[in-house]
Amino acid sequence: MTRPDKHETRTLSDLSLAVHAGNDIDPGTRALRTPLVMANSYALPDDPSAISWSSTEGGLYTRNTGANQVALQRKLAALDEGEDAVALASGVAALHAVFFTHLRSGDHVVVADATYEATYKLFTDLLPRKYGVEATFVDIADADAVRAAVRPATRLVVTEAIANPTTKVSDVAALAEIAHAAGALLVVDSTFTPPPFYRPLRDGADLVVHSLTKYVNGHGDAMGGAVVGRRELVQPIKDEAMVDVGGVISPFNAWQITRGSVTLPLRLRQHLATAPVLAETLEADPRVAFVAFPGLASHPQHEVAERQFGGRGFGAMMAFAVDGDADAQNRFVANLRLITSAVSLGHDESLIVHVGAEGPRVRAYPEPFRRYGHLRFSVGLEDVEDLRADLLAALDATFDAR
Ligand SMILES: Cc1ncc(COP(=O)(O)O)c(C=O)c1O
Repeated sequence: MTRPDKHETRTLSDLSLAVHAGNDIDPGTRALRTPLVMANSYALPDDPSAISWSSTEGGLYTRNTGANQVALQRKLAALDEGEDAVALASGVAALHAVFFTHLRSGDHVVVADATYEATYKLFTDLLPRKYGVEATFVDIADADAVRAAVRPATRLVVTEAIANPTTKVSDVAALAEIAHAAGALLVVDSTFTPPPFYRPLRDGADLVVHSLTKYVNGHGDAMGGAVVGRRELVQPIKDEAMVDVGGVISPFNAWQITRGSVTLPLRLRQHLATAPVLAETLEADPRVAFVAFPGLASHPQHEVAERQFGGRGFGAMMAFAVDGDADAQNRFVANLRLITSAVSLGHDESLIVHVGAEGPRVRAYPEPFRRYGHLRFSVGLEDVEDLRADLLAALDATFDAR
């Protein structure tokens, strides 16, 4: 089939990459898009006796790799500018895959104090209790604290480019320098900061993790996770966490996420443009107690975010609270008409979730989170004026009703 080699994508712009990377004309059907291949097993050669049953080359068994997984992995590697990628069953499977593969008993990890819940649980409980991994939680925005936490046994520094839910911003280049000086790898969960908005590998991260469930798929209808980075770091994850532990993505989810990812750069433009307008609207309203959004001048890492994200935006996740108790937060959410109360993020529709002020994780959050709890708000693709009107009408209804 005479088409430009789709894998020579380095020179393409982001919009073109998202359409073409990883996609071949299917040799069997001449379909323009990689067809959905749900088979578990593939025909063996006449003499299979020398085959490695652990091979991740394809054409063997779907837990070892499948056509839709490969198409997605190629696209993710191209978008994040990594040598290789592995797509797994969920974002948490991807996080666990990195830690399971790259840590041994007795290793030490420096972890950001505010992270997604599963990372927190893995390092406060599961990995220390079951495997003897030691973890130190630090204020990841404080380079001196990170430097002081590193030990000879430190193997990984683990953070989120923009943290869930506090929106604390990691200075990835500075963390990479600290990690590498200590002989450790920097792992960045970039779920809140997908490419082309941000590419942590450019700033020295060694492994980038995504929950594909969020922005990359973008439509709230499939789960997946990925790890992107140098081949020598990704291949052992394929061998161990995918083939041997079984965290592989289903072909259907890989196909669905590949389809969703075609519009990722286009969707991000809208997400990134709308979020600052809403953050400013909320911050200017006296009925709102606080807003945490890296695009606001009041955000503690605003300047880091401006530099690191190169003016492309500040993400589309924010946390805020209305001026009142937990009841007031719930009333506010109940008064929203367009924005839906549900977990998850990065979907086409705007989502909000009320998280209370209690619990061990919350102790590491900034003071207003501990005082008011918070509303984690994922800004969707609806019209900015419709979203603004929804927020303001809900504030009116909440505070008039007091
Ligand atoms: C930053 C971050 N990482 C990882 C995950 C886990 O992803 P998944 O739900 O696909 O397992 C989430 C989910 O919310 C997340 O916010």
